Amino acid sequence: MRVDKFLANAGYGSRKEVKKILKDGLVQVNGVIVKDSKVHIDPTLVEVTVQGELVIYREFIYLMMNKPPGVISATEDIHDQTVIDLLESMDTVLEPFPVGRLDKDTEGLLLITNDGQLAHQLLSPKKHVPKTYFAVIEGEVTEEDKKAFKQGIILDDGYHTKPGDLVILKSGKRSDIELTITEGKFHQVKRMFEAVGKKVIYLKRIQMGQLHLDESLNLGEYRDLTEEEIKLLKTSS
Ligand code: URA
Repeated sequence: MRVDKFLANAGYGSRKEVKKILKDGLVQVNGVIVKDSKVHIDPTLVEVTVQGELVIYREFIYLMMNKPPGVISATEDIHDQTVIDLLESMDTVLEPFPVGRLDKDTEGLLLITNDGQLAHQLLSPKKHVPKTYFAVIEGEVTEEDKKAFKQGIILDDGYHTKPGDLVILKSGKRSDIELTITEGKFHQVKRMFEAVGKKVIYLKRIQMGQLHLDESLNLGEYRDLTEEEIKLLKTSS
């Protein structure tokens, strides 16, 4: 890998900025100053320092975001702000993307990574990775709904969903529920409730596989996953 790309990936700025750091003689590879940005290095074999500080090599980035409403789960969009627009520039260098989609008005747990293999496994319909949502429903959610969700629900397009595990937290004119599903059809949670004559008025994802939303993250905030969480995600898929 070229040394300028390596440094850019590690968060030392754009390729142009990194070129300047190199030119200024601030970069050493195994103790030798390297000024040429075209020099190739094997980051697993050499020690690179910038102004004496060891550069930690990372290939993958794993971020957990508490997605705010009004922002779309995409890498770019001509009209709307995307979740990637909310990242600091040093976190976009490794070109992460959101794993799956939450609707524009949905909040909560969104994994953002550049690990294509993990993303593929988490999203693969064959893997049935469970996703849990908290929702506020207009209308009284009943034990019948719970039974119906367990059987799978027939959506507006005739698709019969896999069983959903519905937990009623509070039932009334407005009900609070948690629903766990193992698929990710378009607007699935909203459409499942529509099919039983009810409307989702607030939706938030709280869990994906074994990864829980860190409730200390405010809307729009994100953080790196811990090593433990990365392991948990990999075993979920
Ligand atoms: N189901 C929905 O209806 N919307 C989402 O954003 C996620 C699941």
